[in-house]
Amino acid sequence: MLNFNLHINTKILFGKDKIIELPAEITKWGSRVLFVYGGNSIKKIGLYDKVTQILRDNCDFYIELSGVQPNPKITSVREGVKLIRENKLDFILAVGGGSVIDCAKAISAGANYDGDPWDFPMRKAKVVNPLPLGVVLTFAATGSEMNGGSVITNEELKMKRPFGDEQLRPKFAILDPTYTYSLNKYQTACGAVDMFSHLLETYFAPTEGAGVQDRIAEGLMKNIIHYSKIALNEPENYEARANLMWTSSLAINGLTGAGKMGDWATHMIEHEVSAINDMAHGAGLALIFPYWMQYVLSDETLWKFIEYANNVWGIHGNDLNTAQLAINKTREYFYSLGMPSHLKDVDITEDMFEEMAEKAVIFGPIGQLKKLQKEDIINILKLAY
Ligand code: NZQ
Ligand code: ZN
Repeated sequence: MLNFNLHINTKILFGKDKIIELPAEITKWGSRVLFVYGGNSIKKIGLYDKVTQILRDNCDFYIELSGVQPNPKITSVREGVKLIRENKLDFILAVGGGSVIDCAKAISAGANYDGDPWDFPMRKAKVVNPLPLGVVLTFAATGSEMNGGSVITNEELKMKRPFGDEQLRPKFAILDPTYTYSLNKYQTACGAVDMFSHLLETYFAPTEGAGVQDRIAEGLMKNIIHYSKIALNEPENYEARANLMWTSSLAINGLTGAGKMGDWATHMIEHEVSAINDMAHGAGLALIFPYWMQYVLSDETLWKFIEYANNVWGIHGNDLNTAQLAINKTREYFYSLGMPSHLKDVDITEDMFEEMAEKAVIFGPIGQLKKLQKEDIINILKLAY
């Protein structure tokens, strides 16, 4: 296990009707609020009315930034920064899924930065003095509600890039599982695959001896497999929604990743897929992860696949065949949730591979379990095709 510091300072308010605690949380941090949300989903579930009532009753001023799209665009971030400056705002409230939260984080980083916020994902600027951010979560998937990461798309450049800073962890996050009842099967499945993938990214790392992290990750993976199937068939099953929601936060808040290297190559490749065809992040991961596994499986990495096979899938054995069975199980699980299984099924064509691979390595090789160069990424994309 490697040395680490871990300071997760997001206050979690978990459970049904926890929204009643929103006024007390906001007023700790500010009184002039940028309220960020996406399309109509929060209106359909009655959350928009509740939040605007709370903002009217408890704040001096608020203004809305609506229409934040899935795979949030840098144009929305720029618009949000402008609203903050014009209206001298001091707090950001994000109500929605990962895209809304990520957009709000980039706005928070950009609020006190003189340059263009696209500089953050391009590693040209560091986050200094960001605006405080609070979250009401409606989609269990990305874990953005409890981490410092943000992923932003530049449509003009057809690039989707992550950046992160500890200071961008939300000050608080309200997690009411009933807000996720309205997610359809496909969205629920995408969320489950995303959180499962976050655990895989830190699990499949070259660091040995991180038993605490890996045993927690295995437990969370088994929990996702169990509850995702229930949530798909019973969208209003509170227990299933609650388990998925809390898992999404724990899967990528540092708990299983601290003290380990973390691979993250699959995420970097997926970002290039969804940058090109704007598809849901979870579906993109379902397409790539099993093929990444296939590609990196070797005599050197076998030990990790054996742990995964034994402890997550209950497949016993210690040879390449055991590893292969676990990879097949992973693919079958994603497929059973209704995820696509080949890139050609989602309008990706082979002539795009070169550009996607090129962009994935703009800052150098990716991955830790196996360092991947451009050619490796093209090979993985070919396997996934
Ligand atoms: O726009 P609205 O109306 O809100 O609709 C959204 C959107 O169309 C809808 N939705 C949200 N809550 C709903 C709902 N529909 C019905 N009922 C509800 N309760 O779902 C659609 C997708 O929402 P989005 O926020 O895009 O989904 P998700 O939470 O999966 O976020 C995906 C984004 O997060 C990034 C992804 O790359 C992608 O851009 N990620 C962020 C990470 C982070 N910050 O740590 C890590 C992840 O690995 C990921 O890369
Ligand atoms: Zn993800």
